[in-house]
Amino acid sequence: MAVLHAEERESTVLALLKAIGAYWVFVVPLVLLVRFAYYRYVSPLRKYPGPLLASGSRAWKVWSTWAGHTEMDHIRIHERYGPIVRIAPDEVSLASPTAAREVLAAGKGFHKTDFYWVFPPPENPDIFTEIREDVHAIKKRHASHPYSMATMHTMALFIEDTQRLLMSKLDRMCKAQDQYCNLGNYLHYFAFDVLGEVAFSRKFGFLEAGFDVEGAIKTIDDVQWYDGIVGQIPEWDYVFRRNPLWKFVPWLRAGNFLITRMAVEEMDKRKRFGKPQERKDLLSQLFDAHAKAPDAFKEGDIFAVAHGAIMAGSDSTASTMQSFSYHVLRDPAIYANLKRELDEATASGKLSEMPQWSEAQSLPYFQACLKEAMRLRPAVGLNICRLVPSAGAEIGGQFFPGGTRIALNGWVLHRDKEIFGHDPETFRPERWLEGDAKMMERFMFQFGGGAHLCIGKNLALLEMNKTLPLLFRDYEMQLLRPDEELQYHSTFFVVQSGLEVRISQRRKA
Ligand code: HEM
Repeated sequence: MAVLHAEERESTVLALLKAIGAYWVFVVPLVLLVRFAYYRYVSPLRKYPGPLLASGSRAWKVWSTWAGHTEMDHIRIHERYGPIVRIAPDEVSLASPTAAREVLAAGKGFHKTDFYWVFPPPENPDIFTEIREDVHAIKKRHASHPYSMATMHTMALFIEDTQRLLMSKLDRMCKAQDQYCNLGNYLHYFAFDVLGEVAFSRKFGFLEAGFDVEGAIKTIDDVQWYDGIVGQIPEWDYVFRRNPLWKFVPWLRAGNFLITRMAVEEMDKRKRFGKPQERKDLLSQLFDAHAKAPDAFKEGDIFAVAHGAIMAGSDSTASTMQSFSYHVLRDPAIYANLKRELDEATASGKLSEMPQWSEAQSLPYFQACLKEAMRLRPAVGLNICRLVPSAGAEIGGQFFPGGTRIALNGWVLHRDKEIFGHDPETFRPERWLEGDAKMMERFMFQFGGGAHLCIGKNLALLEMNKTLPLLFRDYEMQLLRPDEELQYHSTFFVVQSGLEVRISQRRKA
């Protein structure tokens, strides 16, 4: 009898499979449709408005990231649908800066989602890609001293060394007949070379060459673009990058890539010779952290954290310096105010030949311009994402069930009229001088927040506070196309192009 039942079951299953095989053209869309309707109508998030495509699939997020301007899409959907928008079956985007603070606050249990898991290196996650919060906390604790402001000040000389190289390149362009300078590219090369110096005591050679050596910067942007898109549907990473066949495509091997190659070389050199570094760069500080706690901060962590610093810190800092330059140069009155402040500070001995951190802090107009650049064009264009803890949580008066993904986009949050004033779309440094700057600063998210606050914030701020005053004091610059918007697309970071200027020397002229 049992044998008979089993045979019957088998033939039914077989018949079903045959029917699916014969009618798959109808069956697959039907299954997708039913799944779409289920997500759209059964989910507890169904009450939140949003694009139709987003309510039943992750296709809206994939499409928006693919198209390259997800930050603008997020601004538009919030304008259309309000402060809470459903952007995927299990994900809502929040526009309220107060809600964002609640979500990002340390210890509230909102953890990183599997979006971050896609970012390499999967076999040994760094501080950015580690999604196990307890492991992340250990890694971050051990890496925090090397990234502290006190340590960063000891690295100021590395930055100055690279600043001098940048200036020698700019000086040459000033003397050329056409005085042409692709300032955007040079700021990009500069940011990478600074990180090479800070992390490995070696420049990558971008400034020296004056071009993107081995297409390394482009490769990072392409990888980030992949990460951003596939991060919306992380399981697809198994089809692509985690697919074993990937390893057989030579140009896709991470080890071939300039930045990784240099990081590996430096690691090997130091492991082999084992002598203490004369220059206490980031890598040697991370070796020290490993020596103090070899089981908690492993050898693999040294590499992952140092390598991750280049990935996380170069495009972001370059993008911020480009935004600053573009907005200041675009407005003659703002540019004139800034130059006046820099000239007066220099004349009164308050701004050295190589500007120092503390001096830059005493330049209120410069600080206002920098904050305004970070407000209007935060360097991360994609939303950052957190999971609601399993018990669910109330955010801004709304209850969200456990497992809901909460998306926060800096471009949206920094345009909140209640916090930043009636004209959030305008680059207006004065808002930081006349308004409640302390309150506005509490709601700035350009460096993220809480337990995942950017670990490189001190380095990025030091670098920008030393470089931008120098650049704007010592050089006269004019945008080649002042009426055109700066071109950009968001991979994970906002990658900009077209910041081209005519340049001449100011002080040495
Ligand atoms: C202006 C420059 C920079 C900006 C705007 C920026 C922005 C951010 C943001 C928004 C986050 C939070 C991401 C999230 O929660 O998903 C973040 C995290 C991070 N950033 Fe930066 N960053 C900058 C520079 C740097 C630099 C120079 C480094 C390293 C040298 C760096 C390394 C990291 C790391 C490792 C994380 C992960 C922190 C964690 O999860 O605990 N960043 N950054």
